[in-house]
Amino acid sequence: MAFTKLKAAVVGAGKMGSYHINVLSEISNCEIVGVVDPYIEVQNYPSYKNIDDLLSDQDIDFAIIATPSITHAEIAEYLIKNGVHILIEKPVCTEMKDFHSLISAQNEYGVKIVVGHIERFNPVVRDVISRINYDVEEIIHFSITRKSEKVKRIKDVGIDLDLSVHDLDLINFISNQEIVKCDKFYSQDQLDIMLRMKNDRLYTIHNNYFSKKAKRLLDIITTKNEYNLNLMHIGNSNPLKDQDQAFINYITDDNLDNLCLLNNSFNTMKFLL
Ligand SMILES: NC(=O)c1ccc[n+]([C@@H]2O[C@H](COP(=O)([O-])OP(=O)(O)OC[C@H]3O[C@@H](n4cnc5c(N)ncnc54)[C@H](O)[C@@H]3O)[C@@H](O)[C@H]2O)c1
Repeated sequence: MAFTKLKAAVVGAGKMGSYHINVLSEISNCEIVGVVDPYIEVQNYPSYKNIDDLLSDQDIDFAIIATPSITHAEIAEYLIKNGVHILIEKPVCTEMKDFHSLISAQNEYGVKIVVGHIERFNPVVRDVISRINYDVEEIIHFSITRKSEKVKRIKDVGIDLDLSVHDLDLINFISNQEIVKCDKFYSQDQLDIMLRMKNDRLYTIHNNYFSKKAKRLLDIITTKNEYNLNLMHIGNSNPLKDQDQAFINYITDDNLDNLCLLNNSFNTMKFLL
């Protein structure tokens, strides 16, 4: 079979966008044919100030949206209507009505859409999933602590759509249990969440912006084992590259790997929006 490179665009060339540009440049079956950002011009790649200019100049297969969260929905919908497969950084959007519009646009235009839940490609997460025998083990306790310094440039979302969104997805993904109720307790720069799961267990999330040093800790107790996990211990692996490669494989071969689809994201975002 002929080796074809997918044509990629990165929309938003800030912090996360530049990470995506770096990893895509190392992936052999894609080439970046455009970077869109009204304020940043990236060396070595064709730069565009807006998506119209990109689309009138290039035929692209997929785009990664790494713009401020409040802009995701409008950009995503425009790309979907132009038949472009997309990876949208988390959170998908900031309003429920936009989530519904994205789902109907996807149904109408049939493109592939995934959400950038990078923790699903964290080797620590992959490892614990491979160790739990879901047929005979039940997760009776699951708590996540994620602390980080508040990032000044992120002004469009609160702690829920910035930090907790990762952890709701992780709990849903690792436990393989539906979340049936979500109680949130806010205080300044802190959010504690109690989740009632389909198996009637209570799982918890603690997020705060107090810590200068990022901490991402998982404590899982099953009916057979206990796992104390540190998501910062990823060695030389590169979860972002693994995620972006998985997205490309999903486009070419329909292989889902650990990717988060729009409906997976809906199952957790409905408790945050
Ligand atoms: N998966 C993760 O772990 C993770 C980590 C950090 C950020 N993020 C997400 O990535 C997104 C971007 O965050 P960031 O930290 O890179 O922000 P950032 O401010 O560093 O970058 C955003 C960039 O988008 C550009 N931009 C704004 N409007 C645009 C538009 N209409 N078209 C094209 N470009 C536009 C801005 O000029 C800026 O360069 C956010 O949604 C954030 O939640 C995800």
